Amino acid sequence: MPTIKLSFCKAMKNNKLTAYFDQFKTGLLQTYPGLGLSYFEECFILSQLSIEEFLKKVNEKIPLEYITGKAFFYNHYFMVSNSVLIPRCETEILVEMALSYLASLTCLEVVVADVGTGSGNIILSVVNDTNKKIRAIATDLSFDALVVARKNGACLQKDDSEVIFVQTDRLLGVDEQFNLIVSNPPYIKRQLDEKKVHASVIQHEPHMALFLEDSQYEAWFTDLFAQVRDKLKPGGMFLMEGHEDHLEKLQELAMQMSLAKVQILKDYNNRNRFLKAFKE
Ligand SMILES: C[S@@+](CC[C@H](N)C(=O)[O-])C[C@H]1O[C@@H](n2cnc3c(N)ncnc32)[C@H](O)[C@@H]1O
Repeated sequence: MPTIKLSFCKAMKNNKLTAYFDQFKTGLLQTYPGLGLSYFEECFILSQLSIEEFLKKVNEKIPLEYITGKAFFYNHYFMVSNSVLIPRCETEILVEMALSYLASLTCLEVVVADVGTGSGNIILSVVNDTNKKIRAIATDLSFDALVVARKNGACLQKDDSEVIFVQTDRLLGVDEQFNLIVSNPPYIKRQLDEKKVHASVIQHEPHMALFLEDSQYEAWFTDLFAQVRDKLKPGGMFLMEGHEDHLEKLQELAMQMSLAKVQILKDYNNRNRFLKAFKE
């Protein structure tokens, strides 16, 4: 009997969700491009909210990942809050490149840094998908982002690896030499690029994760590249995600900071998206 009651309840809720989806589909698709009913239902279940609370948040156009508190990235669900960027699918390419670099190394143990770790999605994906033993330092300037990253770390760390989350500016004060440094730093110029960013991103995602001041942009990356050069082991690799319009300038800066074999790589939309460099 209780089972029948429960499924009846679920069916009623699903009816309400389906009716809402059908009625507001056009608006929903503007807020959540590509949204289908089954994913909408999945988000409702993941959110563990009442249907009224769930739809209230949907009406406020809050990203579904922030409503559910979860985002899927490279084989795993990551806990997210509005203190961290919602992981993007193009960043999965950076994870793949990091993994293939690690696979090419002959040593069994490697030291990795992740600058601007956010939810910890990059470093924890790398740790979980490589057969190397990893010691990693993941930094972020945001205390609240690190709270989220540490929770993800507690769920996703592997027994033979260690990820330490540190609050600092890029790699300042980090006293290690790395085989690999990865980063998806803030890379949107606040004045020049902001108008090209989706309103929902500006409204809901942390600005510290997105923007750098135009006037400080080049100095910020010059400092990052200097830290990377000083903290990479000889032969070590640096991999960074960046803005399609600014990577050529950053390539120049990286070369000026004595990084070697600096290369721009494209994403699956054929847009400049990543910078790869080595320490000789
Ligand atoms: C674009 S988000 C990337 C988050 C995550 N790694 C990802 O790929 O989704 C950039 C991250 O860098 C952090 N950040 C911003 N300025 C920083 C700085 N000076 N030093 C370290 N982290 C910084 C932000 O708080 C944010 O978490």
